[in-house]
Amino acid sequence: FFQAEDDIRDKLVTGVQTCDLPICSNFVRHALQTHADWNVNTLDKLTYAGRRENLHDVMDHDRHVFVHGDILDAAVSGPLVEQSHLVVHFAAETHVDRSIMAAGEFIRTDVEGTFTLLEAARRAPHLRRFVQISTDEVYGSVPTGSSRETDELRPRNPYAASKAGADRLAYSYWATHGVPIIITRASNNYGPYQFPEKVIPLFVTNAIDDRPLPLYGDGRNVRDWLHVLDHCRALDVVIDRGVDGEVYNVGGGNDVMNVDLTRRILQVLGKPLSLITPVADRQGHDRRYSLDTTKLRGLGWTPQVDFAQGLAETVAWYRDNPWWWRPIKEQDPQFQAYYRAQYNSRT
Ligand code: DAU
Repeated sequence: FFQAEDDIRDKLVTGVQTCDLPICSNFVRHALQTHADWNVNTLDKLTYAGRRENLHDVMDHDRHVFVHGDILDAAVSGPLVEQSHLVVHFAAETHVDRSIMAAGEFIRTDVEGTFTLLEAARRAPHLRRFVQISTDEVYGSVPTGSSRETDELRPRNPYAASKAGADRLAYSYWATHGVPIIITRASNNYGPYQFPEKVIPLFVTNAIDDRPLPLYGDGRNVRDWLHVLDHCRALDVVIDRGVDGEVYNVGGGNDVMNVDLTRRILQVLGKPLSLITPVADRQGHDRRYSLDTTKLRGLGWTPQVDFAQGLAETVAWYRDNPWWWRPIKEQDPQFQAYYRAQYNSRT
């Protein structure tokens, strides 16, 4: 790949690096399926949430190259960016609870890692788009209404603050250096291959094993759920028709209270409500996120996956693919130590 300078077709670099993996691995798969003329390079640090298994069916694809490396390592990430027409930068530490326990990796990967890629992007001769994957968490908690792209950023936890830093840093490279940046702010993704620390895969896999579902606080916090394939299709639209320097919200329009989400999961699995176990709340727990997606809809995107159906399919995927999550939950000492540290003191 690195010698192929004369033969540059569209090359897509997706930084993974402990990313919110339903998004990145699903996007790689989606890109290979829907863009027959794309060569895809995935850069992944393979830390706790980045796993080769997430890409098991496309590892040997003839238009996909997997690179094991860190975006912070400019010697690895720099040449990849410099040879690319398109960069979609998913690489991030993503789990809010972990950022509350220790924020250092979030600053390094999410902020400094983004800086490293942006510096390479300044030098990239063929670069047409650099999509910075941001999050609705940068707006902070929204008691009523929905966040618009022009709203003030009020991140309230270390993860959200590092993503807000990266979001604005990317913007500055467009405003200052003319790098073709587009920023997307997505709501909570759900779907297959999501690391079982996030609420949906955690609750589904706990429920399958008749283990308690640790619901934070009063369970009335609201999240907007976006199916990962709707997110992939939104990325296609902004890559194709978005405007440089602009921000686009990507939300599923499914604002659901955590307690209702939990009940639905139990209902799909036919498990008792008694598995719901209220536990101490997350520190600084944002009460509600909600996105106004008028701007992206103006480019022709609408979410296609019905939430009830998408959730049922996602639950079925975890039920049918224990080979993917059981080794994490049952054999990974790092995950088990995290689970104890996160939940033992809460109950
Ligand atoms: O909103 C987009 C964000 O969604 C992304 O930027 C983040 O990377 C992603 O992690 C996610 O953040 P959340 O904190 O909303 O996701 P999480 O799955 O951790 O939690 C969803 C909700 O469920 C939240 O209100 C906290 C609650 N929760 C979570 C866990 C893990 C529980 O009640 N119990 C739990 O054990």
